[in-house]
This record gives sequence, C-alpha cells and structure tokens, in this order.
Amino acid sequence: MSDVTRITPKPNGPLIVEGPVKIVTQDGRELPVPPRKDGRPAEVVVLCRCGGSATKPFCDGTHKRNGFSDAAPAGLAPTV
Ligand code: FES
Repeated sequence: MSDVTRITPKPNGPLIVEGPVKIVTQDGRELPVPPRKDGRPAEVVVLCRCGGSATKPFCDGTHKRNGFSDAAPAGLAPTV
C-alpha cells in the first residue's frame, strides 16, 4: 500500500479513498472500515457523498437507487 492517500470521486457515486487513512467520529472514536463483500479486509474506504447511506459515513450502494448526481447545478460552471 502506498504512503500517499488518494481520494477519487466516483461519477455519481461515493468517494474512493486509497492509502493510509483513519475514519473517526466527531468525538475521536475510530470507526472500523467495513470488510469487502467476500469478508477480506478492505483495501480502500468507500465514503458516501449522496447522503442516503444507512451506514454513513460509508457508502452502502444507496446512491444507485436514489438518483444521486454529481453534475453541477444549472447555471454553475465546474471549478476544476
Ligand atoms: S454515495 Fe453510495 S450510498 Fe451514498
């Protein structure tokens, strides 16, 4: 694993976090990263950005059903 943390927004989906990272609550308690679907330890952290996940801050796939879009609102130009 690299010593650099990389965060990639997935189109119309979550933030993919690769590299060393700790996810903590507002009071500093570390949250365990959910394992992969096959039960092995996760190599990436997948964070919800649609607001619909039942397992926030982690993505649970709800973005696929709630119509989440990361398109810029009408009238606003992208800043990148
Ligand atoms: S981005 Fe996947 S559930 Fe929110």
